[in-house]
Amino acid sequence: MNALLAQILADCAHYTSQGHVATYIPELANVDPGKFGIHVTLPNGENYGTGDDQDRFTMQSVVKPMILLLALMDSGITAVRDLVGVEATGKPFDAFNYSDQALTGAHINPMINTGAIALCTLIHGNTYEERFDRLLNLTRKLAGNPNLEVDQSVYRSEKLTGNKNRALAYMLTAYGMISDPVEKILDCYFKACSILINCRELSRIAYIFANHGLFPDTGERFFPAEYAKYVTATMATCGMYDGSGEFALTVGFPAKSGVGGGIMGVIPRRMGVAVFAPSLDKHGNSVAGVQALSQLSQALDLSIY
Ligand code: DON
Repeated sequence: MNALLAQILADCAHYTSQGHVATYIPELANVDPGKFGIHVTLPNGENYGTGDDQDRFTMQSVVKPMILLLALMDSGITAVRDLVGVEATGKPFDAFNYSDQALTGAHINPMINTGAIALCTLIHGNTYEERFDRLLNLTRKLAGNPNLEVDQSVYRSEKLTGNKNRALAYMLTAYGMISDPVEKILDCYFKACSILINCRELSRIAYIFANHGLFPDTGERFFPAEYAKYVTATMATCGMYDGSGEFALTVGFPAKSGVGGGIMGVIPRRMGVAVFAPSLDKHGNSVAGVQALSQLSQALDLSIY
């Protein structure tokens, strides 16, 4: 496995110069586009990684499966389904164009910004600070690192400039889908996007979803298998945004990307994988990351289709 991962990184390294790092969150423009890491987690907690797989990056949209999971754990499937649908939008992750005058759950899904913002309201807590703390603790447990923290500069940068997300949240308010104060909900969402993680931790999280909610080391159940299936099914259809169909063809397993350059991939019952390479394609997915996952999938026959 070590040799395969090293070969994949060598073969795909030139893709790190294609695409562009995200700049719409000003702080993300400072990320080094040459970074490239990959890590896989196998049954019994066996781990393999290479390149910059210990480097930290902000989760960004890779946190959306965690927001969905905690909403499911706190509020249950019915409440989640009633608020946020599961159909792919075929549009960018921050699209506004709900032109039919009737924004409902059927128009959004948990993997786009609008859906994730709405789902923050289904996480339990007396305040939004408490809700975020519970989300951070969940992510820490999944990642196997009790010290995960927020990158304060990225968080502040997005809070200052995130007016598109603000507009999306006010739209949810206007259509009666959320009722809590927008700035409080967004504060939870922006902090969630700014949690720092590395590929090793992210591949462990992916493995727990692949393992249907059981921890890799202890075998202890952390959440019900039906929640793992719910989260990974939405990752499969919506996790790579308007690149999800192409990704299903070329890679073939559930995955979630983030504009920080991370992607986590879930190969049900087999493995978790995470890649990190900050240069993004037009959908907001890591260029080198997608190529590396494609090569891994071909080498190990990982497509679920
Ligand atoms: O809300 C945003 O725009 C970012 N914090 C996250 C978006 C994102 O990661 C889209 N991913 N590819």
